[in-house]
Amino acid sequence: MKVLSVTSECAPLVKTGGLADVAGALPAALAPLGIEMRTLLPGYPAVMKAIASGTEVWTGADPVTGTPARLLAAQAAGLDLMVYDAPDHFARDGNIYLGPDGRDWPDNPERYAAFCRVAEGICDGMAGDWRPDLIHCHDWQAALAPYFLDGATPSLLTIHNIAFHGLAPEGKIEAMGLDRADFHREGFEFWGRVSALKAGLLYASKLNTVSETYAAELMRPEFGMGMDGVLRGRAEDLTGILNGIDTAAWDPETDPAITPYKSPKGKAKNKRALQDAMGLPTDAEGPLCVVVSRLTEQKGLDMLADALPALLEGGGQLALLGSGDAHLEHRFHGLAKDRNVAVRIGYDEPLSHRMIAGGDAILVPSRFEPCGLTQLYGLRYGTIPLVALTGGLADTVIPASPAALARKVATGLQFHPVNTDALSLALTRLCDLYAREEIWNQMTRNAMSQPVGWDTSAAAYAAIYKDLVGAA
Ligand code: ADP
Ligand code: GLC
Repeated sequence: MKVLSVTSECAPLVKTGGLADVAGALPAALAPLGIEMRTLLPGYPAVMKAIASGTEVWTGADPVTGTPARLLAAQAAGLDLMVYDAPDHFARDGNIYLGPDGRDWPDNPERYAAFCRVAEGICDGMAGDWRPDLIHCHDWQAALAPYFLDGATPSLLTIHNIAFHGLAPEGKIEAMGLDRADFHREGFEFWGRVSALKAGLLYASKLNTVSETYAAELMRPEFGMGMDGVLRGRAEDLTGILNGIDTAAWDPETDPAITPYKSPKGKAKNKRALQDAMGLPTDAEGPLCVVVSRLTEQKGLDMLADALPALLEGGGQLALLGSGDAHLEHRFHGLAKDRNVAVRIGYDEPLSHRMIAGGDAILVPSRFEPCGLTQLYGLRYGTIPLVALTGGLADTVIPASPAALARKVATGLQFHPVNTDALSLALTRLCDLYAREEIWNQMTRNAMSQPVGWDTSAAAYAAIYKDLVGAA
């Protein structure tokens, strides 16, 4: 079966978040199941550099700008790529979505509409003989592809994050190549504007999101961000499939960024190294907690800043790596004045590995979390996740309830409701559990033996693909 994955980011070539990891891992996870996946990516500078030499399979004019554009077939980082090289849209340095002022590029709607037209074109023979049996689209950036295809090729749309709607002013309808007749409540109109995501939610043959709990949450107004009604209307076509992680890139036994280890005992060296690197004292009695995250409202780190005294009073330490909202960066810089708090603002892949290996616990206090990957890294590295009870965090951590501890199955801690008080209590409890060595060691062993790879979920995607192609 031939599948075109349509995505605006893909690790290791270009990444702003977990979407890239998932798009990067799926092709290899699906190959053993007889699925040949090619990945369509925009020709950003990083992608063009990585493919160096590609084969031109199409040249012509971009549907939005009318300027020269090309479609290239290429291989890089073990991925079979189709790259849409349209310099007017994608030859821009810096963050792929944001201009130098830190705001969305004003022409994002047109950029990704043009990209989606290319996905449609590939289904229609633009790449010669290679035509997909179905397309698998990710988030709003790819969500117009099912609209343009209008059922001609079956499609699956994966929602990684409902917070991003791909909104555009009504005046862009024609520039984006959309049909004004569909600008109404049952179409792609969303409160007076165009929503690329909504078009995908309505037109994709099937929908999924990245955990079962988030799939259920999405249909409720508290989490649906205005799309809950649309999703309730498509409840029969919406499933939750948990993300896996790349267990080769995230393997404590072979990870080149750390001192490798097989059992939780091996973490001690990594903890010491991390404390030294971050300038943290090595005599703290409590757990060293780590955070690796975008600093945004979603991730709930303002609550962590408020709850921090509970951790410090319990003898714990905090090491945070992240970047994002300026006010959160500023807040954590201020907190780092405490000798047991260390903060690195920035994006640093090797350091992220050292943090996950060296931490005793990883904190993920998100207000909502479609899946979340860092708690999965934590499990694999025996770094106990303390998470909010929401979305994929609820589905991947077995909380240390008295019953779970008695049965020796607990892998982490969860707090609920998702607020500062509950987080403070959970941090105090974390410190208590850390002090009970036998229980803590049991939990780290449990964590390390949890399956966090792609096997089960790849099979679930393959089953959807088969349904879609069978039904077409
Ligand atoms: P989201 O996609 O919402 O940001 P995920 O947990 O799914 O959340 O994925 C985040 C990914 O980005 C993980 O691979 C995480 O390790 C990585 N990441 C986030 N912030 C940083 C950072 N500052 N440095 C290195 N990696 C980071
Ligand atoms: C999104 C979500 C995150 C998820 C990732 C990959 O960015 O915020 O929870 O793990 O996509 O699906």
